[in-house]
Amino acid sequence: MSLIISVVGQKGGSGKSTLSRAIATCYASASWDVKIADLDINQSTSFTWLQRRINNSIEPIIAVEAFGSATQALKKSDDYDLFIFDGAPTASRTTTEICKSSDLIVIPTGLALDDLEPSVVLANNLSKEGIDKNKICFVFNRASGSELEYNEAKNYLDETPYFVIGGRIEDKPCYRQAMNEGKSVTEARYKQPREKADVVMQNLINRIEELTN
Ligand SMILES: Nc1ncnc2c1ncn2[C@@H]1O[C@H](COP(=O)(O)OP(=O)(O)O)[C@@H](O)[C@H]1O
Ligand SMILES: [Mg+2]
Repeated sequence: MSLIISVVGQKGGSGKSTLSRAIATCYASASWDVKIADLDINQSTSFTWLQRRINNSIEPIIAVEAFGSATQALKKSDDYDLFIFDGAPTASRTTTEICKSSDLIVIPTGLALDDLEPSVVLANNLSKEGIDKNKICFVFNRASGSELEYNEAKNYLDETPYFVIGGRIEDKPCYRQAMNEGKSVTEARYKQPREKADVVMQNLINRIEELTN
C-alpha cells in the first residue's frame, strides 16, 4: 500500500502545485518512489514543471502524470511508495473522491481572511462528506514576513478542529525562480528561504508519521 497525500484548495493559485512538488522532492530525496498525479488537466503545470526538471538534469527524479479522473489515477497509486494528488484549480466531486482515499489532506492557505475562510469551508465540507478531521491540515503559503499576521492567522485556524502545520512559506521571488528551473521551494538557491521551507516540510512529514504510526 502506498502513502497517498492530496493537496487541494478552493481557490486557484493558493499553492497546491507548489506544495505537491515540495512534498514530492522531499520524499524522493529520501529514496522514496514518488508520483505526482496532476489533476489540473487544462494547465497541467506540474507536468510542464517536470519537463523543466528533466531538461535541467535535476535530481532526484519525480514522476508526474496528468489524469482526467481520480479513479483512473488511483489504479496506479500502488505502483509508488508515495502518490501525491495535485488538485484541480477549484474543489469538485473529484476532490472529495481523492481525499477519501488519502492518508493526509493538505490545504494550502494564505494569511488573509479571504484565504482562510474558503479554506475552512473546504475542510468543513470534506468533513461533512465523512473524511476524518485529523487527516486534514492547513499549510501557510504565499505568506508575508509579518509575525503578527502569521500569529493571527494561526490563532484563527487553531479554533477549527483541523491541524495547522507550523511555520510558513513566504511569497518570495526565489521560490518562483526555483520552480521556473524545475526545482521545488526546498531546492531554492538561497539558504535562508530554503531552510524556512524545509521547516514547514519537516513539520508536515512529522504529522504524516504521527497519523500513520
Ligand atoms: N511561496 C511562494 N512564493 C512565490 N511564488 C509562489 C509561492 N507559491 C506559489 N507561487 C506562485 O504562485 C502561482 C500559483 O501557485 P501554484 O502552486 O501553481 O498554485 P495552484 O496549484 O494552487 O494553482 C505560481 O506562479 C507559483 O509560482
Ligand atoms: Mg496547480
